[in-house]
Amino acid sequence: MTLHIDTIAKDSLPPLLNVERIREDFPALHQQIRGKQLVYLDNAATAQKPRAVIDAMSGYYERSNANVHRGVHTLSERATQAYENARDKVRRFLNAADCREIVFVRGATEGINLVAQSFARPRLSAGDEILVTLLEHHSNIVPWQLVCQQTGAVLRVVPINDAGELVYDEFVKLFSERSRLFAVAHMSNALGTINPIKQMIEVAHAHGVSVVVDGAQAVPHLNVDVQALECDFYTFSGHKLYGPTGIGVLYGKLPHLKEMVPYQGGGEMIRKVTFEETLYAEPPYKFEAGTPHIAGVIGLGEAIDYMNSLGLETVAQHENDLLDYATEAVAEVGGLRLIGTAREKAGILSFVLKGIHAHDIGTIMDHEGIAVRAGHLCAMPVMHRFGIAATARASFAMYNTRQEVDALVAGLHKVNEVMGR
Ligand SMILES: Cc1ncc(COP(=O)(O)O)c(C=O)c1O
Repeated sequence: MTLHIDTIAKDSLPPLLNVERIREDFPALHQQIRGKQLVYLDNAATAQKPRAVIDAMSGYYERSNANVHRGVHTLSERATQAYENARDKVRRFLNAADCREIVFVRGATEGINLVAQSFARPRLSAGDEILVTLLEHHSNIVPWQLVCQQTGAVLRVVPINDAGELVYDEFVKLFSERSRLFAVAHMSNALGTINPIKQMIEVAHAHGVSVVVDGAQAVPHLNVDVQALECDFYTFSGHKLYGPTGIGVLYGKLPHLKEMVPYQGGGEMIRKVTFEETLYAEPPYKFEAGTPHIAGVIGLGEAIDYMNSLGLETVAQHENDLLDYATEAVAEVGGLRLIGTAREKAGILSFVLKGIHAHDIGTIMDHEGIAVRAGHLCAMPVMHRFGIAATARASFAMYNTRQEVDALVAGLHKVNEVMGR
């Protein structure tokens, strides 16, 4: 059974993206690798940064560097304002109702661990069930295994079909009276599959089960509206959204965040401390112990502004065009098998070449100046499901072009040639 997903309506196409202009904004794209023009197709691992993000971060260090929420002096007030402005940009980006629902974390990994330890752990007992899916990144598997070890809860895994789509009927059947939590990727990093999370959240909620959405891959490609989704938690990393590394977001419904125990203790997250008793600050500060990554938060806010200035739908349309073009073009490469052919997918092309290890593909491509990912993609269960050890992966961003896809295809022919296939 397949579900309709609300992605982007094909009959109201947004204006075309001026990719050549956009490329000028990304300094890292303009370099030679091994004597060849860089073709950067590892965007699902991390995206390059526009000049505006780099400037916003260095501007903070050059002119406004001070700690946030602590000083009455001008620089501290300026830093605090920039930090809290960025929180509001994130709130609007996710269409959250309240800034208190936006917690800054290091990335999606920390967001998921925070939910596992502060929300799930105190609520779980032996025999309770956590649902995950087979296509998750390790960062949406291992934190749940840890919490299972701590509580005696067990994991239940939603299977996928040969196209890399979740098997909806099996998902529905996995619920029991012991189900407590469902953790699911909005979009798979290994397969590109976009999951029908709205419908899945409805099913989970009908069973009284809370839902954590891993949005690490989705936010650069899809509109996210946490109020429409009604998810309990949604997390993503800044660096895949053209922002800095080391910063990410956990959205949580306010009543959950109010009830949850702190994740870490330290400065900033308290209201009052005595040796007898400590009172915690309100969300989101309760979960932001210590000096935060201030420059990272400011850079993330700038990345969101940059994305908004282009329009997510316009960007998505361009990336979908590249994906369609690439899917067709690689079909002519001898021995190539696509891994992940879901009807609803975005921006990611994973593949194997018959008899050639993915690392050899990656290395030979690098000699052509082409950056692709090679390995298990932090999704070993997916590799196991498809009976392979690793894949190569090209992943697209707003600044990629059809010419770069042509370079990818030429590079793959070269791989076959070098490897004598
Ligand atoms: C689907 C998915 N979830 C989570 C993560 C973890 O993100 P980070 O390493 O930025 O915390 C990634 C990173 O590749 C991912 O692709």
